[in-house]
Order: sequence, then C-alpha cells, then structure tokens
Amino acid sequence: MAVRAVVVWPDDRLRQASVPIVAIDESVRALYQDLVDSMYAENGLGIAALQIGDPRRMFIVEPKLAGREPTDPPVAFINPEVVWTSTEQQDSEEGCLSFPEIYIKVKRPLRARVRAMGLDGEIFEIEGEGLMARCLLHENDHLTGKLLVDFVGPLKRQMIKKKLMKVKDAELDEAG
Ligand code: NI
Repeated sequence: MAVRAVVVWPDDRLRQASVPIVAIDESVRALYQDLVDSMYAENGLGIAALQIGDPRRMFIVEPKLAGREPTDPPVAFINPEVVWTSTEQQDSEEGCLSFPEIYIKVKRPLRARVRAMGLDGEIFEIEGEGLMARCLLHENDHLTGKLLVDFVGPLKRQMIKKKLMKVKDAELDEAG
C-alpha cells in the first residue's frame, strides 16, 4: 500500500487515546498494510497506528520478535489488552520510531501477556519475555497516548525536545 510519514514527538497527535476498531473491514486491512510498509521502511520492531496519524486501536510487531518465521507477515494486534504482567522487572534502553535516535532506560515487567484480535477476527493471546514483553507494553502505551518521555524527568524531557526540534528543522531545510 504505502509508506506513511511517522509522527515525531512533540507532535500532539501522539497524545490522543486510540479508539476501538468495531469491524475488520477493508479500511482496517489497508491500515495494517500501511503499518507494515511504514515499519519496514524505518526498520522498526513494532509500530502503533497512532504513529502514522491514525488513532485506531491497533499495533503490529515484527514476526521474528513475535515468535513467527522471519518470512511471516508482521502480527496485527487489534483492540489489544494487557491481561497479565510479571512482578519481575527488566531495565533496558528503549527506542521509538517517534523519537528518532533517542534511547531511554525504561523499567518494565520482564514478561507480559496480551489479548487481541487478529486480522481474521479471531481473539488470541500472546506472552512475551524480555524484548517481546517490552515491545508489547511499549506499543500498548501508544494506544493511550503514553510515550517514552513520560519515563524521564522534566530536564531530560526538555533536552530531548530540543534535539528532536533540531532534527525537524534540518528536515524542513532539506525539503527547501
Ligand atoms: Ni514507540
């Protein structure tokens, strides 16, 4: 379908709460394809619909990370819910396509279980550990407008803002 521009923070659109998908129709399948194309264009592990400017409750995860074959299509999570997280935590650096070249140390549960609907309309559950748990929780955060910068203090947030505004200015200059 199409690679769509990833919305970069501090764009306010990233703060919207995403709305549930009521039916798997042609527009949902088109959104999935745009997510796939946009994620692969940016070498991401996952991406939420909100990040390409569409506030519907869906994200996708790269197949290998999700435990599938590398040649399988990315896994679609429609109307996902986190149903369980472990008390055991992990602390690791995390990136986000909406924060290019920014990495932030985030403490998260080591394991997480998510229930969602697939593109076939079937409900499934998936449990992830380590990076997969991190990815599931990170993408799920996007659906409520929660972002990486919510894990840092105001000073660091300001620094990140300056850095990303500079990137944006440089891109505008390039575009003429
Ligand atoms: Ni993200």
